[in-house]
Order: sequence, then C-alpha cells, then structure tokens
Amino acid sequence: MNRSLFPARTLSGLLRVPSDRSITVRALLLAGLAEGTSRVLCPLESEDTEAARACMAALGVPIAIQHEGDLPALRITGQGLRGLRAPAATLFCHSSGTTMRLLAGLLAGQTFGAALDGSDQLRRRPMRRVTDPLRAMGAQIEDTNGCAPLRIHPAQGLLRGMCYAMPVASAQVKSALLLAGLYADAPVTISEPAPTRDHTERMLGAAGARLQISHADNGAATVTLSPPTEPLRALDIRVPADFSSAAFFLVAASLVPGACLRLSGVGLNATRTGLLDALRAMGARITIADLREEGGEPVGDIEVCAAELTAIEVGGPLVPRMIDEFPIFAVAATQAHGVTVVRNAEELRVKESNRLEGFLAELRKLGARAEPTADGFVIEGPTRLRGAVVDGLGDHRAAMALAVAALVAAGQTTILGADCVTKTYPGFFDDLARVATFDYDRRSDRPSGGA
Ligand code: S3P
Repeated sequence: MNRSLFPARTLSGLLRVPSDRSITVRALLLAGLAEGTSRVLCPLESEDTEAARACMAALGVPIAIQHEGDLPALRITGQGLRGLRAPAATLFCHSSGTTMRLLAGLLAGQTFGAALDGSDQLRRRPMRRVTDPLRAMGAQIEDTNGCAPLRIHPAQGLLRGMCYAMPVASAQVKSALLLAGLYADAPVTISEPAPTRDHTERMLGAAGARLQISHADNGAATVTLSPPTEPLRALDIRVPADFSSAAFFLVAASLVPGACLRLSGVGLNATRTGLLDALRAMGARITIADLREEGGEPVGDIEVCAAELTAIEVGGPLVPRMIDEFPIFAVAATQAHGVTVVRNAEELRVKESNRLEGFLAELRKLGARAEPTADGFVIEGPTRLRGAVVDGLGDHRAAMALAVAALVAAGQTTILGADCVTKTYPGFFDDLARVATFDYDRRSDRPSGGA
C-alpha cells in the first residue's frame, strides 16, 4: 500500500499513541513462565506483538483477550518455568527481532528443542550477538551463517552461569541472557557498555526474580540474576503508550508552524527518552505533566508545541537511549539551524533497514542535505523539503519518519510500501489525520519549520 501526504496546515489536539512494543513482548514471554494468571492491560496489538503472542501460544501458553470497559486486557495463563511444551512447528517471529532474540534466550535452557524463523527481513539481521553468549552458557544452538533460522536443541541439564561484558549496547541481548539465566546453575552477570532499556529487569523484579543491579558513571548497568529458588509471580501491569511511537508526533509538532499537541500516558523510562533530551537541547518546547508510575514504569503526558530548532551533536551513551528514534531525529535535523552530527551509531545499519545509507537516501529524495558517515550521519539544515516519491524500505520507523517529513515538504509526497507501519503502529495514518489538517494545494511551496 502506498500513501500520499500533503503539507500540514495545522497540527493540534490530544492523542494516545499505541502501547509499548518492548514492554508488551516482554510481558507475553515472562507471563508465560510465571505461575498463575497474569493481567496485561492495554497491550500493543500489532504485527510484532502478534508474533510474540502466537509463539507463546505454540509453546502451550493460553492467552485470552478480554475487555475491561473500553480497554483491552490479556489474560495469560502462566505455565511455570518448566511447564512450556515443545512447539509442533517452527516458531515464526515475522519481522520481530525482539521476539526472536528474547525467545532464543528463553528456549536455550528448555528440555525440548525448537526452531525459530522469521521474514526475509528478520533473516538478514545478526543473531550471533545472542547465540554466541548463549553457547558460552552451554546452550546448543545452530544459526544460519550468523542469522535466522535458529535451531535450539534440548538442554542437557542446567545452563552454566557466566559473567559477560556485552560488546554492543543491546537490550535484546541483555534480556535474552537474563531469560536464559532463569535456567542456569549459577548467577549470570551481564554488563552493558552504555545504558539500554531496562524493561526486562523491571518486570523480572516485579515477578520476584533474584536480581542485583549496579550502575557505572555513564549510567550503564551491570545486572546479576541468580538462579530462581521460587516460581515467578504472575504480572499485573498496564502498558504505557510507546515513547518510540510518540516520537513521530514530538517531532511533527515541533516542526509544523503553530502546532501544539498533547500525548497522553506515554512511557518515560529514562533508558528510552534520549530523543526528549536531544530535542530539548535543540530548543524544542516540550513539557511533561502528571508524571506517575504505572506497572513499574514512569509514565506522563507530554505537551509539545512548534519551535525553532538548532543543530546539536549526538554520541556516546545518549545513542542507545534513542536508538529507535534516529530516522525521526534525522527529519528534525533537516529543519534545524546548523550542522547536526551523529556519532557512535553504527548499530543503525542492522535495524529493520539500513537506517544510515538506506534511510538517508530516501530523505535526500525530499531535498535533505544528509550524508551517512562511518558511524552515524551529518545533516545540514534548515532545508526546504520538496514532496517526492520515497520508499518506506519495509521499515516501520522509516515510513513514519518520511510521513512526518512530508508534513513540512512542499507539495505531495508518496510513500511506497507505507503499510509496514503495522509492525508497531497500525493506526498511524489515521492518528495523523485526526490531529492534522492538510494543505492539498499541490503547488504549495510554503516555508517549513519554526514556530
Ligand atoms: C529493543 C531493543 C533495541 C531496539 C529494538 C527493541 C528491545 O534493539 O532497537 O527496537 O525491545 O529490547 P537492540 O537490543 O538490538 O539495541
């Protein structure tokens, strides 16, 4: 499906973007290992979370969806740490890297074997970062030239504990090793080079797992999980709105002249909100109201209004805290005054698409002055973008970022393959139409950017 967009004339109102993908996937996995019935209120319902749900169902976990008033809620009947059953067929993870990597850890210590596979896109993503340390714990895993499909053989007894310093700052690797640690004979200690999202640690803690966490000066965690002496307790959580989905509207409202938006109930875990820090440093007008805690995560309402942005430099420990936000950050950079420089972000090459070469090439079709570097990119702004035909690259975040660029581009922009947004945000274009009015005049060449 292709989508055509026009410049936004106005952008205002109130929006609750969909629930958090990372938290929903983790809840599905952990609830399956707990004892008793977990309640997960407001789960994300998207392609990625459906993949995780179907895999857990195939492992023998009953999952029902009910409604509490207007709100959807999952009831997940946990099978205990040793209660999963061998899947009858290959577990298909679609394009969900989180599902595949976390399941690899969860399955590594089981007494049955399983195969994991996914879409062609997922088959291209690196898996050795998780299979190598799992093998060091004694797991028997075959990968396919370092990628999926993966075949996990039944564990012979318990896995081994270990101390592991992760070479890449990856929450997926950290989470996979913690899940494997539930089946180890001794503690597993993982240290990350820079802070990464800590949803797994929070949820494991809530389930009663034995965790110890310390932090280095740059905020990076060292997490030790000791072998469980008791079953995991069932979860009762409400999933906040996904900061990574809110990000598109944070930037859109910063760029569309006169815009003001309120985004309600957004997850504000500091390991995820690097974009907030970056946008504020650029001069964005963003305020947080009603900061609270829900389901063990900080949550708040975000108000954002249009502002003149100034270029900044991003690197170091900020990078993993905004790792999924670089496509939309790049769009903001095209409208900022000065030269924006991103460093230490080579991981962007191995996301759903190559978010350095691939994504920046699409942005250049709109007139952006954006060039990749060895470990990031350089963008010169502000640029008056012009509508063009661009490719969503099969990457949900590329497609949504290009849609936001279209709001400040002159004339019509067509995004090819825009339906890939279903991975995390099936209603993205409907939500955009709810808060924006468009300038359908194809000859329009309004200046973009600024308050
Ligand atoms: C995720 C971690 C990040 C992120 C991904 C989701 C998670 O990946 O990019 O979209 O849920 O743990 P890495 O662990 O590869 O950095």
